[in-house]
Amino acid sequence: MSRSWRLPRGPSPLVRSGSGALADLGAIARERGHRRALITSDPGIAAAGITGRARESLESAGVLVEVFSDFAENPTESDVARAAEAAGVLRADSLVGVGGGSSLDVAKGAGFLLAGGGRMEDYRGYDKCPHPLPPLIGVPTTAGTGSEAQSYALISRDRDHQKLACGAPSAMFRDVILDPALLPSAPAEVVAATGFDSIAHAVETAVTSGRTDESVALSHRAFALLSRAFPLVTAGFTGATAWEEMQLGAFLAGAAIERSMLGAAHACANPLTRRFDVAHGRALAITLPRVVRWNASSARDAYRDLLGAAGIPPGDDPADTLASRLDAWVAMAALPQDLAGESLHVRDLPALAEEASAEWTGRFNPRPFDAAGALAVYRSAVA
Ligand SMILES: [Fe+2]
Repeated sequence: MSRSWRLPRGPSPLVRSGSGALADLGAIARERGHRRALITSDPGIAAAGITGRARESLESAGVLVEVFSDFAENPTESDVARAAEAAGVLRADSLVGVGGGSSLDVAKGAGFLLAGGGRMEDYRGYDKCPHPLPPLIGVPTTAGTGSEAQSYALISRDRDHQKLACGAPSAMFRDVILDPALLPSAPAEVVAATGFDSIAHAVETAVTSGRTDESVALSHRAFALLSRAFPLVTAGFTGATAWEEMQLGAFLAGAAIERSMLGAAHACANPLTRRFDVAHGRALAITLPRVVRWNASSARDAYRDLLGAAGIPPGDDPADTLASRLDAWVAMAALPQDLAGESLHVRDLPALAEEASAEWTGRFNPRPFDAAGALAVYRSAVA
């Protein structure tokens, strides 16, 4: 049995949540008057059979469907251009992202190109598209990026793999299906990395210089849910409540990003992904605990409040308490604890730190963040 809700304030999709909610997809599309839908779904999700179920639900509601799966993690401008082309051939009136953050971002990206033409770089920033995007439906199958709660697509630029954040009011999914029964099909390492990404969103958004009462409430609720569920799902616990909490936590943390931005842990993680191909959640496992300690003097009270929301005693040094808890989760989930396993060398660090200091998200970190700060974070991660 699914239920229908939206966030009480600010931008939000209409959410259908509950185990088995995927079966509502066709009815949602029919209610909205969609006749021709392109599903964007990465090959792993298609192989798991989830894409086929989405397709069946739409087709049984009389919607003509094609599936676009020709992309991988960190989708590029070219991937999105090919998706838009497939949607054009179908004469799609709607786009349905089914999968992890990449599948959702390809749906949004194709929406920009269908609405305004050109290439993704033209839409970098916010509200650069002259026309509204076609209606979007999101069906996340991981608890991770929170893309399902945001009006931005993150697409990698072809020439240098720089992430282009392209936003617009209509890039927010009109409808989102949160079906926790879809989550356990993900491999354990994906559950660990994507789940830790959500935790990083809750932690970073709770302390940014741009946070508001509303964003902090979302960060706190997300952290409370994720701190309870993450140790359970990464330990292989199969209870439905834990998956539901992971999914809702990831959604709320994504909504918090929309209202608060991120911080230095993401700024330090992104160059590791770009230069050394470290998966986003794994890079955050290395950077987040270190950034929390580095931020201690600037965010002590905010970290205390965050711990309090999750019922974790803050101790004398809330930043250290939080960082230690993050370290424990990283170890428990078999995520990397430092840069020892990566192919980078100490001589790479200054250039990496320069790149990190140029990342947009670092500007919202509670402690002013620059290349020297990034270098301190990286140095502490080299064993
Ligand atoms: Fe992230």
